[in-house]
Amino acid sequence: MTSILVVLTAFGQGVAQPSKVHSSFKPGEVWTDTEGNHINAHGGGILFHDGTYYWFGEHKVEGKNGNKAMVGVSCYSSTDLYNWKNEGVALPVAAEGSGSDIEKGSVIERPKVIYNEKTKKFVMWFHLELKGQGYAAARTAVATSDKPTGPFTFIRSLRPHAGLWPKNATEAHKTVPIVVTDNDPKWEQKVAAGAYLQRDFEGGQMSRDMTLFVDDDGTAYHIASSEENRTLHISKLTDDYLGFTDDYVRIFPGGRNEAPAVFKKDGKYYMITSGLTGWAPNPARSAVSDDMMKGWKELGNPVRGTEDEQKTTFWSQSTFVLPIQGKKDSFIFMGDRWRPQNPIDGRYIWLPITFEEGKPVLRWQDEWKLDTSEKKQTKR
Ligand code: GAL
Repeated sequence: MTSILVVLTAFGQGVAQPSKVHSSFKPGEVWTDTEGNHINAHGGGILFHDGTYYWFGEHKVEGKNGNKAMVGVSCYSSTDLYNWKNEGVALPVAAEGSGSDIEKGSVIERPKVIYNEKTKKFVMWFHLELKGQGYAAARTAVATSDKPTGPFTFIRSLRPHAGLWPKNATEAHKTVPIVVTDNDPKWEQKVAAGAYLQRDFEGGQMSRDMTLFVDDDGTAYHIASSEENRTLHISKLTDDYLGFTDDYVRIFPGGRNEAPAVFKKDGKYYMITSGLTGWAPNPARSAVSDDMMKGWKELGNPVRGTEDEQKTTFWSQSTFVLPIQGKKDSFIFMGDRWRPQNPIDGRYIWLPITFEEGKPVLRWQDEWKLDTSEKKQTKR
């Protein structure tokens, strides 16, 4: 079913394609919204609330600087996961020259939104890099709204856990300084051993690629690449989700995990991450634990397919794992196929997660539907 509807894109970037009603996922193809525009919600995450899915993501623009936050965080809504309506900008950037942390030209990445049952507020966290500082700031930031579609109000950005050791810090971490210089031949080992954990003890820990996870008991966790992207930090948020508690742990020290996505199945926590190669794809990793705060075990690359598919995670990087409502144990892997030369043209890789021998598994499908996700269609 195709209806011809040609409109200008919301931000004047040209003429949209004829809008179409979608009835399947086609990973890697241009995915149009209900107005016919390529969905602009990269590094995204999805919230399900009152029967509707809300997809939040980075609003990219055309050209080499398109990864900067020129507009803000986009929001789209859907009830079937195939067809997405553009709900506009949920968190707008602040005016240029305003000096706000989220000023136009800063970097806003991987926004994730959760709903707080107690306060009835929607809470967004995202990775923030301050304008003009490249990726040096390494901060996480929070905004809140009364409605899922926003507008979200920016609260603050921070480097978490200033003056606090992680729960699994050793006595040596706390008492034996590790001296590391930029071109130290043992740089990787020393950073893995906690050199930057110590360096950032006073000022707060670095926080780049991040995700959020809300457990069945309402506890929310912030999971982020810290210590120059070498080690993941898992932190418990406060009851209102607006701040960090003192409770955090380091996991996979020196593991170079980025792009974390967390989900829960049969009482176990699973994590899919990427390695550390910037916008270029690399092999995904997976891990499992009985406890969010300890005992994580690596499960290896979840990708089954050709060598190239395994090396590149189908030319994508993880961003979120979406539990499908009303379908027990059904999860969608969401990844980004980045296009750093023209970021607005980045593509979305959504694939069903299956389980084999207790491990999450991803297999390529050119096209698939929710009701047939268990029966494999095209395999490459
Ligand atoms: C990736 C990261 C992206 C973005 C990019 C910048 O590794 O996952 O979110 O930060 O680096 O180069």
